[in-house]
Amino acid sequence: MTATHDIPKLELVNLRLNYSPRGKSEARDGSNLAVNLDGDNSAPPIRISRGEFTVLLGPSGCGKSSLLRMIAGLVPPTAGKVLKDGELVRGPGNDRVMVFQTYTSFPWLTVEQNVLFALNLEDKGKSEGQSKKGRARQMLELVDLGDSLNKYPRELSGGMKQRVAIARALVCDPDVLLMDEPFGALDPHIRVRMQDLMLRIGRTVRTTVLFVTHDAREAVILGDVIYISTLRPCFLKYRIVHPFNKSATDRETARDRYSGDFLGFQREVEDRMQYLIEHPDAPRSMEKDDDTSFRRSTLGILEQLSDNTGVRE
Ligand SMILES: Nc1ncnc2c1ncn2[C@@H]1O[C@H](COP(=O)(O)OP(=O)(O)OP(=O)(O)O)[C@@H](O)[C@H]1O
Ligand SMILES: [Mg+2]
Repeated sequence: MTATHDIPKLELVNLRLNYSPRGKSEARDGSNLAVNLDGDNSAPPIRISRGEFTVLLGPSGCGKSSLLRMIAGLVPPTAGKVLKDGELVRGPGNDRVMVFQTYTSFPWLTVEQNVLFALNLEDKGKSEGQSKKGRARQMLELVDLGDSLNKYPRELSGGMKQRVAIARALVCDPDVLLMDEPFGALDPHIRVRMQDLMLRIGRTVRTTVLFVTHDAREAVILGDVIYISTLRPCFLKYRIVHPFNKSATDRETARDRYSGDFLGFQREVEDRMQYLIEHPDAPRSMEKDDDTSFRRSTLGILEQLSDNTGVRE
């Protein structure tokens, strides 16, 4: 029998999503296929471990939101399945909460009421021993909005609105947090502050996070594991384990103290994404967690770059 801790938090088994109208078959050239994690030859399932911060990195329009929507249960897959804790995902549920690309607060509710709304939808006694208001405020403090409880969304900046969305997602204590380019619409300065906030949240709330972005730098700052997708259909071709493990050296320290290696890794990820855009038929490469100790050095990263990706030119 499989022990519970061996079961991945999420398993994506040969998922496909075809946007053609029901009953119509896939276009022969695959042009209406948005997600195809199967590839052409039954690629093994994507397994996401509990507590891991996984980034899905891919160019704009490649099918990232479509993939998240299937995991959230908002769209049924055309083929394949999503398993959570080994159980089939059949629809949306409070165990998987999504932070969307666009701002989604209720305009007629204050910041605090927006967060309380999520808690009131389905409480399941998660806030036992603590009043709902207390828990909502705790989450709003965590995202630095403790002094804006009574403001309305129209009085908030874009960054503040996304922080409300993050607090609203976290207050439900989700098993899986799905984040769809939550900082995509923010200017670069605020974006960096939001990434630091995510790192801080990650140290406090140890939930499993699936974070979608098209920005390699964001992927390298946040992810424990980074998957890179081909340009439509979304096929996760590369799995890269971050050479700086957050539990050994936190990301902010790694970025400052080992900036050469850190930037080298960022460049490697950018190069791989670019390479995939230009060579969609490149072979799949899934790095295992224990393959990575060598890669903690600049030399390792350089050697990987020239040997594995074919990025030589
Ligand atoms: N509801 C829909 N009906 C038909 N086609 C859709 C639908 N939603 C998305 N698509 C198509 O599927 C493809 C992938 O879209 P998706 O939104 O998943 O990409 P994305 O990677 O999230 O893009 P972005 O980075 O711009 O957010 C696009 O070509 C899009 O036109
Ligand atoms: Mg999207």
